[in-house]
Amino acid sequence: MTAQWIDSWSPVEGRERAEKVYRDCFNAEPAGVGSAPGRANLIGEHTDYNDGLVFPFALLHRTFIALTAREDTIIRLVSAQEDAVWEVDLDEVAPGAHTGWGAYVAGVAWALREQGYAVRGFDAAVTSCVPYGAGLSSSAALEASAAVALDEVFGLGLAGTVDEPNDEGRKVLVQACIRAENEIAGANTGGMDQSASLRAQAGHLLLLDCQTQDVQQVPFALSDVGLALLIIDTRAPHQLVDGQYAQRRATCEAAAVALGVPSLRAIADAGRSADEIAAQLTAPGALPSDQNPEVAVRRVRHVLGDIERVRRVVTLLDEGRTEEVGPLLTEAHVSLRDDYEVSCPELDVAVDAANAAGALGGRMIGGGFGGSAIALVRLDEAQKVADAVAAAFADKGFTAPGFMVAEAGAPAF
Ligand code: GLA
Repeated sequence: MTAQWIDSWSPVEGRERAEKVYRDCFNAEPAGVGSAPGRANLIGEHTDYNDGLVFPFALLHRTFIALTAREDTIIRLVSAQEDAVWEVDLDEVAPGAHTGWGAYVAGVAWALREQGYAVRGFDAAVTSCVPYGAGLSSSAALEASAAVALDEVFGLGLAGTVDEPNDEGRKVLVQACIRAENEIAGANTGGMDQSASLRAQAGHLLLLDCQTQDVQQVPFALSDVGLALLIIDTRAPHQLVDGQYAQRRATCEAAAVALGVPSLRAIADAGRSADEIAAQLTAPGALPSDQNPEVAVRRVRHVLGDIERVRRVVTLLDEGRTEEVGPLLTEAHVSLRDDYEVSCPELDVAVDAANAAGALGGRMIGGGFGGSAIALVRLDEAQKVADAVAAAFADKGFTAPGFMVAEAGAPAF
């Protein structure tokens, strides 16, 4: 069974594609083109909304948006991947009022205006090579591409240049993207994806402290040490994602209240013993009646474990012990599968088949219930491992997966 590889477009190709979609729809040249990458995450999952640590990087796969400012407040959006024009008046954009992909773009304009920036209406055309629904943050790529394009055409001065990104300004754009996703698109996600898309640097992992928003750029050059990171898009349809994600988040927040801290990060930093935490969470009345204490104990164990695993991976990379990262990925997968319960058969098969074929370790990434997995492999075994995963999927009767060899790409610009 031969693996299918998912190609990315060069920045020039993506720009030209977006310009063409714009021209075909609006019969004019766009004033500017923005683009932004999807992301993968090496380690630290479901930790962002617990003020924890995450360690993502930008993909080479990007979303492109060609855009022209209008004098009025009308927003007209067209996409190479969608049929209809999506239209809204910016003055009428409001939480809970919109559905569909356009909400992610209009939401960014709305959030920037809420934050006091002078943004009006615009015409825009979108196209993307970030696989949709693959857990690689196509939505954050869409938001971030809109954010940098709006920054450019309305002269907001927040993004800086490709060579000299303005990280303080980008933090403002990250917040606008998060508000667009949380308040306008209605997905209460945690912020890792938007930070990765706007603040990661090419060739680097982004170590993000979600409590302070501080970042460290950590060199990510696996091929120098004979390794590669395989990204496996399982193509498993996300099921019940929204409700399940919101439930996990609610349990973490209830657990933090029961433990008397603002977020689970404080527990991670305090280094309290697992037994002590479990005793406190299972004490009668500690949690609201809609939370199962035994389940909450496992959810908390995952979050604390993954924050610790981020720290261990950072140390291993720093000490040049990259191969030892592999087993920590698998440990994280087991924790996501058994304690956090966000895996699915396709993700488990992807990780198990990769490991059986010689991967050093692997895990599901992103929110879960479908989407993508990663596997750390020897460089010269990437094809072999990918073929083995593809064969395992065929055996199970699953849809054929798609593969990429991860390379840390550039942020939005
Ligand atoms: C999704 C969310 C992120 C993060 C991950 C899980 O990708 O968008 O904010 O919570 O799930 O780590």
